[in-house]
Amino acid sequence: MTPSNPPLRLSVTTAHDEKDLTLQTPTSGSALTPPVTPIAKEIADAERSIPSPLEEPSPEQTAAQVKRNINTPLRFTDEIEICRDGEDCPVEFGRGAWSIVYKARSTPNVTTTHLHTPPSSPVTTSRVLAVKAPLRRDARKVLQSEALTLTRLNLTPGFERHVVPFHGFLSDSDALVMSAVPLSLSTYIEDQADLRKQQPSTATMFDPVQGPEAWRDMARKLITSLAWLHDTAGIIHGDIKPHNILLRPIATDEPGLEAGAFPYEPLLADFSSAFDIPSDATPAPDANQAAMSAFTPPFTAPELLSLASLKSGDVAPTPASDVFSLAATLMAAATGDLLLYPGSNNMQRLAMARDGHRILDFTRAGSNGCRVPRNGFVEKLVQPAVFKDPAQRISTRDWVALASS
Ligand SMILES: Nc1ncnc2c1ncn2[C@@H]1O[C@H](COP(=O)(O)OP(=O)(O)O)[C@@H](O)[C@H]1O
Ligand SMILES: [Mg+2]
Repeated sequence: MTPSNPPLRLSVTTAHDEKDLTLQTPTSGSALTPPVTPIAKEIADAERSIPSPLEEPSPEQTAAQVKRNINTPLRFTDEIEICRDGEDCPVEFGRGAWSIVYKARSTPNVTTTHLHTPPSSPVTTSRVLAVKAPLRRDARKVLQSEALTLTRLNLTPGFERHVVPFHGFLSDSDALVMSAVPLSLSTYIEDQADLRKQQPSTATMFDPVQGPEAWRDMARKLITSLAWLHDTAGIIHGDIKPHNILLRPIATDEPGLEAGAFPYEPLLADFSSAFDIPSDATPAPDANQAAMSAFTPPFTAPELLSLASLKSGDVAPTPASDVFSLAATLMAAATGDLLLYPGSNNMQRLAMARDGHRILDFTRAGSNGCRVPRNGFVEKLVQPAVFKDPAQRISTRDWVALASS
């Protein structure tokens, strides 16, 4: 780092003190956006309103309470700095349709002292984080809405096991701060496929690329997370695919981790297309048209890709379309083909995606189709999730039971 090129500093001071609301971005000089309302009290109220486990609240009640109380995103208040490499370029974890995700480091700006140690021992450990910053102007609104969704999700019981940890929103730069989880399911699938190519074996050619036990374990965890998202948090993801699932390693010596098991906790990420599951009383909201343009055909449910629905633009993802997208994700993980239909061009892929209920047939015709044998466990788990009629697709609750059997 040279003194003439200072680090991009995204340092926000405090959410509570109006006079301190500043964002220091010496390299960007971007204009300040109006501060959002402080929300510490709202979060405290929401947390208080979550009944204690002794009262055994229904999950639906809890999620509804969280939503009612939280209308502004949690703000990130510590100092944060984007990491730079030897060439002084910002270090990226990844990119998507809307954003660049940078590696960042943060030091708490309030020194904490341990209760049982002398008061002179402040804790000032820095932590590695991920900062998702908008890539285009129209991404700002999308990230603002994602910040609110993540705020609510991170207050919903059980979130630790299912969604990427969210630390707050930088309102001046419309950026999200998350825990760093540097491995995505897409990279994992590619790595496993490469390993298989390097060590081809007839003994394993009818198995998913990562091995049968790991695939089943991964599938069970992913389906459980989707069930939590729909049934406990009341949210539709809208863009489930391997690039939007992050993998947090589990220590392989952890008790209970069986041989061959999937050594990661999959976490749902990228809530840029997400929205609340409409209740019976409220009509379905218009899908965020900007967010909908992020569709990735092979993973998008066929009903969302029909010409009529694309033309009218009034079609929105549903829990059943998330179920389809997760089934397609499980297929990609089994075959090791990240785009599902290898050798096809974009137009052919779109045509096959529009006939997505035939995903098993299409896959079996491809070069890795042998990894999804007829009547095998992959087919048994995927088939009920890809029916053409969304109403016929398996519910997440039944899917969890099937994946655990
Ligand atoms: N918390 C994180 N830690 C590390 N990498 C991440 C994190 N979140 C996202 N990424 C990487 O950045 C990519 C883009 O992030 P994503 O949220 O999917 O953005 P977009 O909405 O633009 O698609 C992801 O595919 C993943 O590789
Ligand atoms: Mg994404």
